[in-house]
Amino acid sequence: MKEINLPLADLRKAYVADTLDKSQIHQDPFEQFAKWMEQALSIKGIEANAMTLATSNANGQPSARIVLLKGFTNDGLVFYTNYESRKGEELLKNPLAALLFYWEILERQIRIEGKVARLSPEKSDAYFHSRPKGSQIGAIASPQSQVIGSRAILEDKVKTLSQKYENTSEIPRPKNWGGFLLQPQRFEFWQGRANRLHDRFQYTLKEDQNWSIERLAP
Ligand SMILES: Cc1cc2nc3c(=O)[nH]c(=O)nc-3n(C[C@H](O)[C@H](O)[C@H](O)COP(=O)(O)O)c2cc1C
Repeated sequence: MKEINLPLADLRKAYVADTLDKSQIHQDPFEQFAKWMEQALSIKGIEANAMTLATSNANGQPSARIVLLKGFTNDGLVFYTNYESRKGEELLKNPLAALLFYWEILERQIRIEGKVARLSPEKSDAYFHSRPKGSQIGAIASPQSQVIGSRAILEDKVKTLSQKYENTSEIPRPKNWGGFLLQPQRFEFWQGRANRLHDRFQYTLKEDQNWSIERLAP
């Protein structure tokens, strides 16, 4: 194997931005999430709502990709995608999924695990129609995750759709595009600390629907 000489093994970063303690954290993980998300959103130049979504197929093969968090309530976390994409198909067969946020500047990671369900068509419609027309057409034109012969095929499709919908005020949402809601069963908040002694707290949903909170070793 050809050796690629990058100094990866020598990279060392000291995590010193903040600390996390049981006395500081909210009893409710949704509140804790909202607090950290609010802080991340206040930082310019980062896409705070970009999160890694991990799914797995019927053989247990995991796959991960970034999607954008577009809503957050006590019901869960919302993202939008193509239901016939690789992730869409995988979630249909196995609704268990994981989400991950990493905000380098804050030296923070949040891991969330749970079950996804499709958002109601009404909610997906409302979000679809709130998007710029170009994004709506893009979503219709792209058979997400399918092999395509060229970029020109996509661009031609966009051109045709743009003409078709030129004078349409409300483009119909394609049935294969919409939202998912992930209902968390576990949260983990990670704050980087010195000497790799990071702070980690996990919240696990108990049968009585309360959350247990435990510190984990880094
Ligand atoms: C910053 C960023 C934001 C993205 N947001 C979304 C999104 O909200 N929804 C989506 O379907 N894909 C989004 N993508 C593209 C996905 O990462 C991925 O390429 C696509 O959804 C196809 O994934 P799949 O083949 O595993 O289904 C985003 C990519 C990046 C880098």
